[in-house]
Amino acid sequence: MKENIENIKNEISLYLAVNNHISRKDLFDFKMNYLGKTGSISALSKGMRDVPAEQRPEVGKLISDLRTWAEQVFADKEEQIKKAELAARYASERIDVTMPAQFRETGTLHPISLVKKEIIDCFAGMGFEIFEGPEIEKDYYNFQALNIPADHPARDMQDTFFVTEDFLLRSQTSSGQIRVMENKRPPIKVLSPGRVYRSDSDATHSPMFHQMEGLVVDKGITLCDLKGLLDEFARKMFTSETKTRLRPSYFPFTEPSVEVDLSCHNCGGKGCRICKGTGWIEILGAGMVNRKVLENCGVDPDEYTGFAFGMGLERIAMIKYGINDMRYLFENDVRLLKQFKD
Ligand code: DAH
Repeated sequence: MKENIENIKNEISLYLAVNNHISRKDLFDFKMNYLGKTGSISALSKGMRDVPAEQRPEVGKLISDLRTWAEQVFADKEEQIKKAELAARYASERIDVTMPAQFRETGTLHPISLVKKEIIDCFAGMGFEIFEGPEIEKDYYNFQALNIPADHPARDMQDTFFVTEDFLLRSQTSSGQIRVMENKRPPIKVLSPGRVYRSDSDATHSPMFHQMEGLVVDKGITLCDLKGLLDEFARKMFTSETKTRLRPSYFPFTEPSVEVDLSCHNCGGKGCRICKGTGWIEILGAGMVNRKVLENCGVDPDEYTGFAFGMGLERIAMIKYGINDMRYLFENDVRLLKQFKD
């Protein structure tokens, strides 16, 4: 019996000494061979029956000491394994904050989006709301209600894609003016961005391009209000020195109509290659909303007046960023796009 006890002790000591990197599960299984219900230390206790009575106290103590000892060494080993596992985890999950960071490639906003955002920010700061109308539009909203009836020669100014006889791909965001006025009573201060379509394609025209429409209707609105607003816009969008100039023009939906020029941001008005020597760059069409348009929308032109303006975003982006061919804006060449950051 005593020999058995000694052997068990040696077996356990040897196993634990040799198996330094044992898993917790293997340790548990091994432990059960001794301390489990049917393990060999438990078997020793059962064997007490056969020990002569006078040796029982001594053997009983040896077995009990063995059990206490075994429980302790297994517990120690388990603790040691736990610590090693934790140390390994810490090592594998360690973050070296001095390592160079791995940057993920992020995209940049397209110059058209940048310009659109900037214009919206500028006008939103002056109290404008945003309205976005549909791209497939009724002839009525795109033309008729804007004082361009079916046989009007002004239709030729915009080579329109018709979907059916009554529906078309809107050729101008001016259609939004009608939709806004049909749904809202003055005072109105609305900005309407969107895609427009015309059968046109060269270095300064694209079959799809972007416009931004503005509409202000209230009592006592004059052309001076338009000029003041556009001056503010020009200074914010370009430089604080930028001036605007109104030239007489014609649009069926405004009367009087004007074409608006900016003083050239490159030469400050002296004349250079960019402004073709004139000192001015044309940026948008505008005017006082035609009485007929107000009437078409149920707004009394004797009570209310308003102005409207419309600009091409591609044109603004080309002027602002010095891009000389509109097609660059649609080629999605990342070498160009990467140069624009918000
Ligand atoms: N819709 C015109 C165009 O596409 C631009 C325009 C001119 C809009 C005068 C206006 C305006 O609102 O008043 O050429």
